[in-house]
Amino acid sequence: MNVQEKLIGPFKQLLTMQHLPVKGALQDKDLEIIADAGIHIKDGKVQTVGNFKGLQEALGDSVELIELTGEYVALPGYIDCHTHIAFGGNRANDFAMRNAGSSYLEIAEAGGGIWSTVKHTRECTEEELKKLTLQRADDLFKQGVTTIEVKSGYGLRVDEELKTLRAIKQANLSSFADLVPTCLAAHMLPKDFEGTAAEYLTLMANELFPVLQGEELTNRVDAFVEKSAFSAEEIVPYYQRAKEMGFDITVHADQFSTSGSHLAVELGAVSADHLEASTANEIDLLADSDVVAVALPAASLGIGCAFTPARKLLDAGASLAIATDWNPGSAPMGKLIESASILATMEKLSNAEILAAITFRAAKALNLSDRGRLVEGQLADFNIYSTDNYQNITYQQGRLQPVAVWKNGMEVYV
Ligand code: NIG
Ligand code: FE
Repeated sequence: MNVQEKLIGPFKQLLTMQHLPVKGALQDKDLEIIADAGIHIKDGKVQTVGNFKGLQEALGDSVELIELTGEYVALPGYIDCHTHIAFGGNRANDFAMRNAGSSYLEIAEAGGGIWSTVKHTRECTEEELKKLTLQRADDLFKQGVTTIEVKSGYGLRVDEELKTLRAIKQANLSSFADLVPTCLAAHMLPKDFEGTAAEYLTLMANELFPVLQGEELTNRVDAFVEKSAFSAEEIVPYYQRAKEMGFDITVHADQFSTSGSHLAVELGAVSADHLEASTANEIDLLADSDVVAVALPAASLGIGCAFTPARKLLDAGASLAIATDWNPGSAPMGKLIESASILATMEKLSNAEILAAITFRAAKALNLSDRGRLVEGQLADFNIYSTDNYQNITYQQGRLQPVAVWKNGMEVYV
């Protein structure tokens, strides 16, 4: 018996996400649902999916058999393609002040905002930051999230950004989920930097980018394009430099005002994230491009602003992913199914659109082609729920949790 080979099942329903396009609206009838299904795993990847009995007969005792009793649903492991979980401190006071009517500026002046998290994160050692990142990654993993993007952006100095990205790299070594790091040194102009935005960005590109590549800390560069952070004009040379060096680029775009999405399309970014302020122009632009639009409903809930126009984006033909944006300021919730289900209610999304947005479309946002669908050759990352109907996952808005999470063909969490 080859111990690397396993057959698991039967599943009452197995959602493969096969055949669904990367762009545009989806209907639930388009979902491929295999009844009484099994998954044949070889070397951590999906070898075959199909009828459990049929696979059992074909494979005989050449594989390890994991036979389930009860009614279960299986579907691909989730991908959270936008988080800021490498941070110190918390911003509970921002939340209270915002709800009492304080403005962004008043909160910042009272010692809150992104800068307060920068101060708390700088106080952490690399080891402490690694532990905090790992705790949050494990929390997401238990929700069924097998791949997690993690941004820096609370260091905002060459040494502090490096500390954060090294902490993420270390956390990835012991994390159940795969962590995909992103450099967000352009989160805001740090208050203690003596110089212009252009000087800060040039310094980061010159001194940080080469080390990121030398130490293989990340191949992704992000920036917050907004009035309170960096303008399109300021950020273009920074992004161009990143592109020339071979980094994938992604943009915090159109959160409060438009321009970031235009930049994302012009520069060929892998994703444009937020888009709460996007209008018909930006929606059409994104729909005509290969840029994945990423909605972050927990940030809309956290700050009480509009939701990303997900319905319009999908109907125009865009690719839509949904992520938690887990961060201490605008999105402390850190729950993927909860926030995706709420966006579905507000924006009238089908189950197929929600599940695509947290599986293969989120993989596309991270430029990963080896995960997000349960088909031959993809990573054997999947979630098992004790239910007879996949619709219960979103219907229960996160209350239904996976009973098992499989990563690289191994049962990691039960
Ligand atoms: O994605 N928009 C900018 N950055 C984060 C918020 C970070 C923070 O408030 O600490 C976001 O929402
Ligand atoms: Fe963000």
